[in-house]
Amino acid sequence: MNKKIMAFCIAAFLVVGILFNSAAKTSAAKPEPTSAVSYTAPITLYWLAKARVPEAVEYVQYIDAEKILKPKSITQYERVERVNKIYQEIRYSSLNDFIEAENFTNVMDLGCGVSPRCLNMARQGINYVGTDLPDVVEVLNFYAPNFVKDDMRKYVRFEIADATDHSEMMNAAKSFNGKICIVEDGLLMYLPRDKQKAMLKNIRDILKEHGGVFVTSDFVAGEIFMGINKTIYGEEDATIVGKETQKVYEDLSKVFFSDTIFKSTEEAVKFIEEAGLKVEMRPLFSGKQDIMSIRDLNNRDIENINALMKQRFLWVMTAD
Ligand SMILES: C[S@@+](CC[C@H](N)C(=O)[O-])C[C@H]1O[C@@H](n2cnc3c(N)ncnc32)[C@H](O)[C@@H]1O
Repeated sequence: MNKKIMAFCIAAFLVVGILFNSAAKTSAAKPEPTSAVSYTAPITLYWLAKARVPEAVEYVQYIDAEKILKPKSITQYERVERVNKIYQEIRYSSLNDFIEAENFTNVMDLGCGVSPRCLNMARQGINYVGTDLPDVVEVLNFYAPNFVKDDMRKYVRFEIADATDHSEMMNAAKSFNGKICIVEDGLLMYLPRDKQKAMLKNIRDILKEHGGVFVTSDFVAGEIFMGINKTIYGEEDATIVGKETQKVYEDLSKVFFSDTIFKSTEEAVKFIEEAGLKVEMRPLFSGKQDIMSIRDLNNRDIENINALMKQRFLWVMTAD
């Protein structure tokens, strides 16, 4: 009897051991971002998917974003989401629109996170290099076989490049043949001023070597976001929702935007010019745009947001 119990215990111990070991292997095989700022990437994708951007809906499934996100308790999630999905869709689509309208065939996406832009670009035959910090690139390369299928392989690559590191940036750009459209959405505000300057100087050096432009709406992110926010919630509530959103990102990234955002257009332009870039401001879209996440708003709100998109919020920069 004792022998039987002992044999059972040994068998049970072995089975548990094997299961535990294989679970550990599975989780070890699935990398997750480790730096605080990298956790801001999946939430961006999440909101793009909520906006029903088709390739975002698709991409969420490929990369297991819900697990990577490790959702924290976001207070007032619904009302924060209502504004953020519109903002994210407009920010994301405006860069894609620029790339297409200007017929670029090379795109370098700085701090690409888990942006579905790689799918959008590769399907148009545009060469796409997504760059980010090592932990994010590890995640991307792990999941890439799920979505970078045979015919797309020649168009999509992910490279480790801290945007503030000169040699990593030059290295990530070196495979491009011809001029490059460098894009960035949602990175600038996570860098302190000296790092922002380093990033701009690296961009300038890439543009000097390869030709092309750097384009982003991040220098006026607050204006775009609050424009949408006020349209939806009115002046007073928009301030509350703005603070709630800021808290979501600051809690995730441990970066405080009051230290990183520019207080005025003049301050930002001076900063850009000091880094050796010229800036031209354009409307967010080259023509009329169908933003999916505003379809269910009333006509007055749609008109307001369409008017907002005509403002010169897209900053196109070239090397001096
Ligand atoms: C808010 S997410 C935006 C991701 C993506 N651009 C999007 O719109 O979905 C910010 C991204 O910047 C990346 N990041 C932060 N600091 C960086 C740096 N110094 N160099 C490159 N990427 C950085 C983070 O890892 C993260 O993926």
